[in-house]
Amino acid sequence: MHMNRRRLFMKKTMRFGALLFAVVLILQTINISTVLAYGAEEGISSTLARHNIPWAFVVYASPDFRAEIKGSFNAQSVSLIKTNDDGWALISTYSGNWWVYLIENIRFLHQNTAVYESRGGRPVEFLAPQTVRILAQEGNWLQVSTWLGSRWIYWHTAEHQPGRHLIPWRFITYLEPDSRAKKQETLLPQTVDVVQIRDDGWALIKTPRGDRWIYWRENMRYVEKTVSLYDSVGGNPSGEIGPEVISIIAQDGDWLQISTRFGPRWIHLPTTQQPGERRIALTFDDGPSIYTKRLLDELASRGVSATFFVLGQHVIANPEAARRIVEEGHEIASHSYSHPNFTNMNAAGIRSELNRTNDAILQATGTTPALLRTPYGSYNSTVLSVAAEFGFPLIMWSVDTRDWESRNVSAVMSHFADRNYVKIKDGDIILLHDIYSTTIDAAIRAVDLLLAEGFTFVTVSELLGVRYGTLTPGKVYTR
Ligand code: NI
Repeated sequence: MHMNRRRLFMKKTMRFGALLFAVVLILQTINISTVLAYGAEEGISSTLARHNIPWAFVVYASPDFRAEIKGSFNAQSVSLIKTNDDGWALISTYSGNWWVYLIENIRFLHQNTAVYESRGGRPVEFLAPQTVRILAQEGNWLQVSTWLGSRWIYWHTAEHQPGRHLIPWRFITYLEPDSRAKKQETLLPQTVDVVQIRDDGWALIKTPRGDRWIYWRENMRYVEKTVSLYDSVGGNPSGEIGPEVISIIAQDGDWLQISTRFGPRWIHLPTTQQPGERRIALTFDDGPSIYTKRLLDELASRGVSATFFVLGQHVIANPEAARRIVEEGHEIASHSYSHPNFTNMNAAGIRSELNRTNDAILQATGTTPALLRTPYGSYNSTVLSVAAEFGFPLIMWSVDTRDWESRNVSAVMSHFADRNYVKIKDGDIILLHDIYSTTIDAAIRAVDLLLAEGFTFVTVSELLGVRYGTLTPGKVYTR
């Protein structure tokens, strides 16, 4: 089954399904009425009833959602002064006695929150921080009553238990549970011993240098370098952030919608690499050809992604294959229109080759390429400056199978492995050509071998995106 990035994301979110089930059980066992029976008539003294509110909440000046909000609190035990039959309770806080709504189908949104018309898809609106009433829950999706009517939000929970946990992104450690405290180490994705978890998202973990606090919410990421902010997916940059911890509102492939001080914005952040994971990129040049369809079928049945450096003239000849490349989650990239040696050409000639290729790809697939591999991998200063004009980084390779020369399955395979010794390394970009039947046979055999060895196949943009962040136009990358 082909696994595109969105499906991978869904897979990740499903891991939290079991935790949510536990949360629902906990919520059901809270019997508020028995707690409320105490205290109301006793007056305000040492006899105040204690009541645990297991979610973040806001307090109001009067028992009315339209009343002024007097403060917001993390989940905690509170002192009840008075309770009403309708779910409102007067509680004692350090800033005075205020009203809180104690019914469990209420959540307080601490940040701008994306609102969806159905579960998934693109957000249609945003809710400013506010209290919402929950109508239904399915997995991490909550149906809430909003001023727009009934809508869905994605609820990011951190309802974990102490124990061994994988933190699947880079994270910062602190000596105190406070993001204004001095930052200690920045750690790679890893499994840690979580000693204590607080309802506000801070967790105490064991590290080789001692106990540290981390902010542990599944919607938090550490952005390790400065990245551009966008108003929409693929739009024009409108500012930048980082390095810092960001809070994620929504995700669309590699694009994350985050909460910023300017309001919700998008950033492009390729997925992080797991510790010990070996990620490689298969690249197929000079197609699409009559053999590409079989290659796509075999890749799809193995859930493997690749990158196709296509020739514009071959896209025009095989538009269906080009369309499938994009639709099936592979990356389509430019390899010129007619495969001339760019170093023998002037800037105008190179521009024409690149423009015609972009047009052909756009026509066939609805997208334009982000990467360029020049024919024969040749370039000079003119080629680099024209590539920069087009916004193309130049992508070369770290493994050359010379499949065009041998046209022999065993000879191509020998570049992947010798007997039982695998020659491919983490980060390799492997050069192949999907214009030879022998290459398709060899590629599939190599994929099966490397899958068995635990390699992950990613597109060139994913591979280099994790390694370098944003790629620089006009710069050459080989791995
Ligand atoms: Ni070529």
